[in-house]
Amino acid sequence: MKLNPKKDYYILGLQSYASHDSGASILKFTKNKEPEIVAISEERLSRKKYSYSFPTLSIKYCMDYFGLKNLSKVDLVISDWIRKKQWLRSGPGYNYSEFDYLKEKFKYRKKIFQIRHHLAHAASTYYTSGFKNSAILIIDGNGSDLETTTYYKGNNLNIKKLSSYHFRGIGDIYEIISSNILRFGPGGEGKTMGLAPYGKKNAKIKIDHVLNGIETNFSQFVNRMPRTDLLSLKNPKLKKIVFKKKINIPKKMGKNYKDWAYAVQDLCEKIMVHLGKDIKKITKSKNLCLAGGVALNSVGNEKVMKLNKFKNMHIFPACNDSGLSYGLVTWAYYNIFKQKKKIIFNNAYLGKKNYQKDIFSLLKNHKISFEKYNPNIVADIIANGNVVGFFSGFSEYGPRALGNRSILADPRSKGMRNYINKHVKHREMFRPFAPAILEEESKQYFGIDKSPFMLRVSKTIKHKKIPSVVHVDKTARVQTVSKINNPKFYELIKNFMQKTGTPCVLNTSFNDRGEPIVETPLDAMITFLDTNLDYLVLEDFVISKKQFLPQKKNLILKLLISNRKKNLENNYKKSQKILFNKLDKNNFLKRKKIEEQLSKKEILELPLKKLIKFCKKQKKIIFYGTKSHTLALIKILKIKNLETNKHIFREYSPFLKSKIKEDIKFLKKNNFPILISSYEYNFEIKKILKNFNYFEIYDNSSRSLEDYLATKKIIC
Ligand SMILES: [Fe+2]
Repeated sequence: MKLNPKKDYYILGLQSYASHDSGASILKFTKNKEPEIVAISEERLSRKKYSYSFPTLSIKYCMDYFGLKNLSKVDLVISDWIRKKQWLRSGPGYNYSEFDYLKEKFKYRKKIFQIRHHLAHAASTYYTSGFKNSAILIIDGNGSDLETTTYYKGNNLNIKKLSSYHFRGIGDIYEIISSNILRFGPGGEGKTMGLAPYGKKNAKIKIDHVLNGIETNFSQFVNRMPRTDLLSLKNPKLKKIVFKKKINIPKKMGKNYKDWAYAVQDLCEKIMVHLGKDIKKITKSKNLCLAGGVALNSVGNEKVMKLNKFKNMHIFPACNDSGLSYGLVTWAYYNIFKQKKKIIFNNAYLGKKNYQKDIFSLLKNHKISFEKYNPNIVADIIANGNVVGFFSGFSEYGPRALGNRSILADPRSKGMRNYINKHVKHREMFRPFAPAILEEESKQYFGIDKSPFMLRVSKTIKHKKIPSVVHVDKTARVQTVSKINNPKFYELIKNFMQKTGTPCVLNTSFNDRGEPIVETPLDAMITFLDTNLDYLVLEDFVISKKQFLPQKKNLILKLLISNRKKNLENNYKKSQKILFNKLDKNNFLKRKKIEEQLSKKEILELPLKKLIKFCKKQKKIIFYGTKSHTLALIKILKIKNLETNKHIFREYSPFLKSKIKEDIKFLKKNNFPILISSYEYNFEIKKILKNFNYFEIYDNSSRSLEDYLATKKIIC
């Protein structure tokens, strides 16, 4: 691509489907100059956690930062894809949400470039690692083509895919157990990880699986993906079909409950270590880059590195889908625009909006008194047992608060953890808090040098000194703070150390239960007034709760909440005007109806049509697959006798290698058209048949024809 050396180029990255982690990034570059990136998650701006909404506000936020008035100034929009490589209707559910409607109305006129979901994750972590080469391990719920695990190798600016596994993975299993067995609700995986050390090994709990290289086969435990789509949304009976065996769901916090958390965490660590070993063997690299939602499992991360003896490990701070838009723009920068100037990644503070003016008016309008910020004073406040909301500089990208939108407290205090869980964050008592420690002191306390993004967990050496940031198993999820990384936070902790002898503070995200992390000074003030926080640091101002008599506090709070609502509505209106062609609710509902009819066809009727068409053409067919699926096909095709000269059934046995060898011999000998007769093992059978001519009826948007048979009366 020939570039104009004087022009500024803008790349916008967006996810292609409605996710609870949606957001946007814009990368700006001028030829041969260091690029600049701004990135934000939609929930921070919309104030709705797990909103599954189009990143309307995030796009506008990023455009505002670079002074872009409309989308015509954007040179490239890049997205991932999930079910099909298409911008429209790529979403996993096919239920045509508002997200899909907004994609249709999006004003960007040029073609939207799309890459695989896991490649975007890989780009986010490798291009920020600073490594010259690295093994790149991506593990998440699912990405393009229902990929769950992918191996890449990074070499200079090139990222090469090595292999991937589809349909089943530990990310999916972790989510299923967190939501279906432990019933934590959306995003509950972090709670499972926190609960796990309270559980123990329990012989009654078995998560059946087979590991073989990159393959993490859970087919004896759960059905393959996809399990949820338009069909399951319309028919709750289908949604329940997840587990292969009957599971005794424990009572919340009852017998076996904590042991389920222990079991899935233990398995996750085992699988992460196994995959780390495998990719190291293949790539022979001493460096490891991790991303995908599973890389939020900080306990697992530590084991992958240590047990496999990787020399260096890098995990992108927004390693879950919230970091996808960042991965997309960096990939485009190197691979589409072929730029060589390296992106320097020093910290995760990518929400680059300056809120100084908002702070002045907030304090002035509500006559809020304050003291000037001084690290010495705030260190004193913390050391005296107060809980402080700390708002400073640009917001963090990703799910962890790293000192700019944090709640801080004294880690030496035994009761602090329970106090904050109960009275400030209103959440489960078993949830741990993290220590933010001066980087140079980390080795002494935790035995690790660097963990700037709070994604490594380590055994605590001096656990008695900092009881409120040590988990029940004496581990801690560490954040190391350096002068380069965050000078203001560093100074504060340094002052705290000078007073107390302890080089760390308790750090947790600045939000109340069910709330996204605060983004603006207004959000911070609302959460400060609405919880039992004692002090609020807003950039250069320290505000004490003591000045607010209950009546005054409630009045201000009410007013601020109403102001925020108005601001948000205005912001939406402005953003929508810039980003979309005319939006109309009736038009949306009409489109929804049409698209859902089309989706139904695609997920059920298309495989059916393909099957009938194929079978009509053939004189002889070998059905290679599972018994129950083949019986369903027979019923649908109205075949009376299967083992005739026309229809041969060969049963596929997933875990019998010798039987598979025999199958291959059999199929070679009987040189007839082969129909893959399995939904569950479609992917595995395809691999076996790579040297044969075969016919498959399913793609990534299909549901099993067994479901069709079971539900056609209800849905079709
Ligand atoms: Fe992902």
